[in-house]
Amino acid sequence: MTQLESNHYNPDYQYQHIEVKPVTGRIGAEISGIQLSGNLDKSVVDEFNHALLKYKVVFVRGQQDLTDLEQEAFARLLGNPLNHPSVPLKDGTAHTLSIDSRGGRADSWHTDITFLPNYPKATILRNVVAPEHGGDTVWANTVTAYEDLSPELQKLAEQLRAVHSNSYDYATPKGQYNEEGRHLFRTAVEVETEHPLVRVHPETGEKSLVLGHFFKRFSGYSPAQSRRLFELFQEQIVQWENVVRWRWAVGDVAIWDNRATQHRAINDYGDALRIASRVTIEGDVPVDVNGQPSTVLKNIQNTDISNLRSEAGRIYEKAS
Ligand SMILES: [Fe+2]
Repeated sequence: MTQLESNHYNPDYQYQHIEVKPVTGRIGAEISGIQLSGNLDKSVVDEFNHALLKYKVVFVRGQQDLTDLEQEAFARLLGNPLNHPSVPLKDGTAHTLSIDSRGGRADSWHTDITFLPNYPKATILRNVVAPEHGGDTVWANTVTAYEDLSPELQKLAEQLRAVHSNSYDYATPKGQYNEEGRHLFRTAVEVETEHPLVRVHPETGEKSLVLGHFFKRFSGYSPAQSRRLFELFQEQIVQWENVVRWRWAVGDVAIWDNRATQHRAINDYGDALRIASRVTIEGDVPVDVNGQPSTVLKNIQNTDISNLRSEAGRIYEKAS
């Protein structure tokens, strides 16, 4: 096969425009021979997308010259940027969040923004300031997690639907945001979406488990039952065999398929500074194995954050 057809995923495709080197046996690959920008040829973007689908998270080193706006331009080659409903943008950007250790640390397992129905299909994270040591990020493959389940548990999983909420009080991450950010995050919007526990990937056809720290409860189950079921499946996701760990250097960019992974940062770097620029790409609404889509249970906007900006861990009113 020499052409990449967008509606047909062939896992055995041989790359011609980029170099792709797997990092582990199940997840993660380093891509070289590419300089990220908004001006890449379609043939390169198609191969990049293919590697993203196959390896779930890809790493590109040496992108320190990529600006926030050029990162946004690259993001648009992959799809429509999706802004977070309750975390203010970085000043001077249209779609970029400054992920700054002074504003909090996403140190529990999650998939980005799963309380939205069209939660991101991909996230692009570029390191700007890396700690001298520590502060790695880990990703887990939620497809192999599903595939490792026994046939009986796969069947159970395919029947379960879970509520994801931005006021996640279950599996509460302690260091997620500072006081100011946490207040805004919890109050600006109230969004709850019911997703199938098993979604069928729209591009690869693979089945993956949808959980992580925005999970609130399983529909039709008590809190105690929900907790036990959550642990059963969540523990399966984060088995070491499903995980890749990346040590950041300035200019490293990680791009992950947010439909097929969970991730978390490792909070082991004390007071050191860690800053990254993040853009997320809109996904489609998940469907279960029978084609039933996710449903929105609640969507209330209490605060318009469009005039707010965030940098260095502080939130402020946009100047102009
Ligand atoms: Fe995240």
